[in-house]
Amino acid sequence: MRYMPMTRVGKGMMLGQDIYDGKGELLFPKHLQLDNGQVQELLSLGFPGIYIEDEFTEDVRIPQVIRPELRGKALKMVHGLFLDNKNIPMEQHNLQEIVLDVIDAVMENKEVMYNMLDIKTYSDYTYFHSVNVAVLSAMLGAACNMNREELAILTTSALLHDVGKRFVDADVLNARRPLTEEERILVVQHPKLGYEFLRDNFNFEPEVYESVLEHHEWYNGGGYPMRKSGPEIPIYARIIKLADTYDALTSRLPYHEPISPSEAVEYVMANAGAEFDPELVDVFLNKISVYPVGSEVSLSDGRTAVVLENYREFMLRPKIKAAPDGEIIDLKSDREARNITILGSVV
Ligand SMILES: [Fe+2]
Repeated sequence: MRYMPMTRVGKGMMLGQDIYDGKGELLFPKHLQLDNGQVQELLSLGFPGIYIEDEFTEDVRIPQVIRPELRGKALKMVHGLFLDNKNIPMEQHNLQEIVLDVIDAVMENKEVMYNMLDIKTYSDYTYFHSVNVAVLSAMLGAACNMNREELAILTTSALLHDVGKRFVDADVLNARRPLTEEERILVVQHPKLGYEFLRDNFNFEPEVYESVLEHHEWYNGGGYPMRKSGPEIPIYARIIKLADTYDALTSRLPYHEPISPSEAVEYVMANAGAEFDPELVDVFLNKISVYPVGSEVSLSDGRTAVVLENYREFMLRPKIKAAPDGEIIDLKSDREARNITILGSVV
């Protein structure tokens, strides 16, 4: 299995993974051989890329923390919470079950790294984003040795961090133009709007409301809404801030094209101590794949290759399979590969 940008997806390619839409409905099943109409549909929904099976990468297994079905269930739940709230006790119960499933999966896969490449539709960005932020936050929390109660607060807050956006018009959120001052003021109110909505309607631990309110605070005090800094900001909100920024940078948004995981990792490193808690940045660097398994990279000898396996301590030197002949190169330990470097991700 490998990640293929949509610009290179064509008729006859076989899906490597179930594909869900932003409502959590199964759109296309794994192993489906795409026809022209289906390729067009994926393009028009705004998927930047998908996972496919092909002969070259049939031996590539992508270790994943969360099964696609659980991801679909979480998407459906978040979608429901954003759109209608007819039965809040039931929605809260449903959310708590999903949170426990996410925590179980994260605890069972503590050694697995965050390998996700963007598979969001354009219009349903917020739902996909909420689920990704929850998974990455839970992984970071587990890596910080949080207990299950703490992980439940963190994962709940992360799933709900942007729920205040339900009060902001979609055409403002999706605007491809600079916002007016009025619109900008409305957008920056989403943490407070989400905080009030949750506090008035749900029955969570107080830290959940607090963390939703403070997920745009910066470690150096440069964020909003309260301009808190350092440990004054709850640990949960500091983790969500980091996961939120990483996922947004690597996503296609109305106002920017995605950047590669390696560039996003550089951004995070450059902002340690400014936007982000520097200790959390260290944890993050241990959990994130700079070159995710199944992604394509370009090599200094002119070839391209697909990433097979990452090494936590040698993030820049993964095991790869080079095109066109399929040579397996372990950049960490193959002596004859010492001169080969990865130039970057091919997107
Ligand atoms: Fe936000």
